[in-house]
Order: sequence, then C-alpha cells, then structure tokens
Amino acid sequence: MRNNVKVYSNPDVGSLEVANHIASIIRDKQQKGEQAILGLATGRTPVDVYKELVNMHKNEGLSFKNVVTFNLDEYFPIHAEHELSYSTFMKINLFDHVDILPENTHIPQGNLSFSEIESFCNEYEQKIHQFGGLDFQLLGIGRTGHIGFNEPGSTTNCKTRLVTLNEITREDAINDFNGLANVPTQAITMGVHTIMKAKEIMLLAWTDRKAEIIKKVIDGEVNAEIPGTFLQNHPNVTFVLDHGSSSAL
Ligand code: GLP
Repeated sequence: MRNNVKVYSNPDVGSLEVANHIASIIRDKQQKGEQAILGLATGRTPVDVYKELVNMHKNEGLSFKNVVTFNLDEYFPIHAEHELSYSTFMKINLFDHVDILPENTHIPQGNLSFSEIESFCNEYEQKIHQFGGLDFQLLGIGRTGHIGFNEPGSTTNCKTRLVTLNEITREDAINDFNGLANVPTQAITMGVHTIMKAKEIMLLAWTDRKAEIIKKVIDGEVNAEIPGTFLQNHPNVTFVLDHGSSSAL
C-alpha cells in the first residue's frame, strides 16, 4: 500500500486523527501570529471531524479566531438559508459552535443571478490567493470520483465555476432532498486547479460504499473521467480510510 494511505479501524478513530491534525495546524499558526487558511468539505464523511473540532473548542479551548475557511462548493440554485444548503450544513456542524469570525468563512453563493456568477467565481479564487492560498484542504469523494463537485470530464486547469451535476451524484442526494425532482441540477465548485494548489490535502472515505471508487482514485490511471485520480500528482496528499473503504486496495 502507498505510504500516503492511512487505514483506521473505524471512522471515529480516523476522524479524531484528522481533527487533531487540523487543530495542530491552527495552533501552529496561532503561535506564529498567522491565520490558518482551511478548505472545508460537506457531505456525511467529514461530520465527525467537525464534531471533534467542536469538542476541542469546548473542552480544550481550541480557538478558531485565527481561522479562515473556504468551502469547496454549494448547490445552485439554492438560498443560503435553505435547510439543505451547504451554508446551513456548515453552521449546524461547525460554525455555530466555535468562535470563528463569520466574516472569515467563505462559501460559494447559490442564489446569484447567472450574470453575477463569473465575477463571483473569479473573486472567490482571488480571495483564496490574497490569503496566501489554502494551507489545508479537506475532501470527501463522490461515487463518480468527483472532488468538490468536479464531475467526470473536469480537467486539471479548471477553477471555481458553475457546473452541472452528474446523475449519480443527484441520485445520491435523493434522500436528503426528498425526491430527485428537488435535487438541484447545478452547483458552484472550486476547480481541480484550486484544490490542487492547497499545500496539504486529506481525502476521507468511509465504508465499503466507497471501496470501488477509492480503488480507482488511488490505484487507477490518472484521468479526467475520475477527477479524484488527479490527487495522485499532489505532493502532500493523504488518503484517510477505514477497513470498508480500503477493502478493494
Ligand atoms: C457531495 C459533496 C462532496 C462530497 C460528496 C460525498 O457531492 N459536494 O464534496 O465529497 O458529496 O458525500 P458523502 O460524504 O456524503 O459521501
């Protein structure tokens, strides 16, 4: 197995390790009087990482005052206040429970008019750049091999933009949205290029539901049909797995 693959006995143990690592980045930056620039993900996969970070804030005094976040993606169209927006997800799972400054959190806006999208996306890229780039990017993986919402066909030079969701991705969201017709057809996502520029990346995957795609992402040929394979070319990526998701490796 590659040395950048870590397999934990279960998602709880893996999530705690990842949370400890993120906390160490935040604390290192605090000691230097710097901000920690974190790229964050949504979905079920990172939920326990956020839970552990909230615990560390409440029980160990971990402060998020020096933390700046950029989320990977947001459905389109969707209002930030919608119960299933990624904006709401981040509030419920992390932002409402820690001392992060609201102005330091960034999530693509899902309620823009079409004419506003391009400049919004350019500004999102510029902001990340102005903060000196992402120190760390947390990722999950979709069953299509998407990272963020970079679906099959996304190339290495794509940046933050409006994309059309793959049908498999929409099907995976049916339960959340209570029916396929309610699942948004598009999203705004950071690009593969944006993600690959992060100084460090951790991709998390739990359970055997992800085993097949994890095998392709880690051991398959690098190709745009499975955008997660681009990560093989990142100099500082770790694949954080459990027994289930690593079972096909
Ligand atoms: C969505 C998100 C991805 C996430 C993927 C997997 O499509 N945009 O960032 O990685 O779902 O979701 P889950 O973690 O629920 O399996």
